[in-house]
Amino acid sequence: RRRRVEMADGTESEQAAVVGDGNPSQLSKSAKKKLLKQERQAARKAERKAGEKERRRADIERRRREWEESLAAAPSQEAREAMLAARRETRLERVGKRVEERGARAKRLRRAAEGGQKVVLDLEFADLMRPNEIHSLTQQIMYCYAVNGRSATPAHLWLTGCSGEMGTQVQRIPGFDKWIIEKEAKSYLEAFADCKENLVYLTADAETVLDDLDMSKIYIIGGLVDRNRWKGITQKKAVDQGIQSAKLPIGNYLKMSSSQVLTVNQVFEIMQKFVETKDWKTAFFHVIPPRKRGEAGAANDDDSPEGAANGDLDNGGSDSWIGYYLRGRAEGKSNLLCRRLKYDSSPSVSLLL
Ligand SMILES: C[S@@+](CC[C@H](N)C(=O)[O-])C[C@H]1O[C@@H](n2cnc3c(N)ncnc32)[C@H](O)[C@@H]1O
Repeated sequence: RRRRVEMADGTESEQAAVVGDGNPSQLSKSAKKKLLKQERQAARKAERKAGEKERRRADIERRRREWEESLAAAPSQEAREAMLAARRETRLERVGKRVEERGARAKRLRRAAEGGQKVVLDLEFADLMRPNEIHSLTQQIMYCYAVNGRSATPAHLWLTGCSGEMGTQVQRIPGFDKWIIEKEAKSYLEAFADCKENLVYLTADAETVLDDLDMSKIYIIGGLVDRNRWKGITQKKAVDQGIQSAKLPIGNYLKMSSSQVLTVNQVFEIMQKFVETKDWKTAFFHVIPPRKRGEAGAANDDDSPEGAANGDLDNGGSDSWIGYYLRGRAEGKSNLLCRRLKYDSSPSVSLLL
């Protein structure tokens, strides 16, 4: 039997356990061990989060103090005014740069809408997910959009089945109305009814292995966060609908320490990286965290297979969440960095607009 357990950090975890009336003393020995391990992990995570928050707060405070001290130490009122003017100038430059970047991104995304590789995020699975999983998927959609916007060769990105609960959730993303993306309430089958033969469902359970991306194809990623509870569901969907399916060629390049089922944003980023480099190995190494790649010494990278699935994302503080995220990727980290995101309270989300 399975039971839901409240963890030390307030999240819930579902555990396979032999339970009697819910009394922990009636758990089997291995279930008790697993429960203890999960509780220890959650406690460590909560501690780490609190530490990070405190470090960020202290950093902001230190910078504020240093600024005030240097202002107070200025030799004259004129010098003080010059310092203030220089600071205003720097801020204006920063804002200008951001506006410029935003314009360039919009241009790239509009160009992609005319000739970019079509990629669909299929949002028809809301009924199969728990609220925290839907929340997690919403964040993964944000990562996809942000990564696409940063790319020199963005995809022509579609959200299909964007209605009901998923429609409501994505609508809540600040700035979503301005996203340069196709938002389609219809299913991909309806949206691409005239070219059904070009639809390819990406799924880890496919027999066909993808060796290249074909511009004439429309690649579909299942919008699902399920810790593979619904194993095989997208492959079944593709078969039932009579469309092609394919899996990423992970096995040709990596020996994974666990399953080859990746998160929505990981799959999207791998595709993006492949479009950019034409090299699967580079794409996999860029996106798949060392721990999941089964590399020694990567034990501290506590990325979970579904990244932000536990709903324990923290606020990225004054820095931008996408900055953390992309820096983490560059350092070979994982969705660990994504946990700094809290889109509904972070002012830095304006980067997405
Ligand atoms: C978290 S997975 C969902 C797993 C789900 N149980 C299923 O049957 O697809 C999210 C999506 O990423 C894509 N995906 C994940 N791993 C993949 C792989 N190794 N190859 C191709 N697509 C993959 C699939 O489209 C999948 O639906």
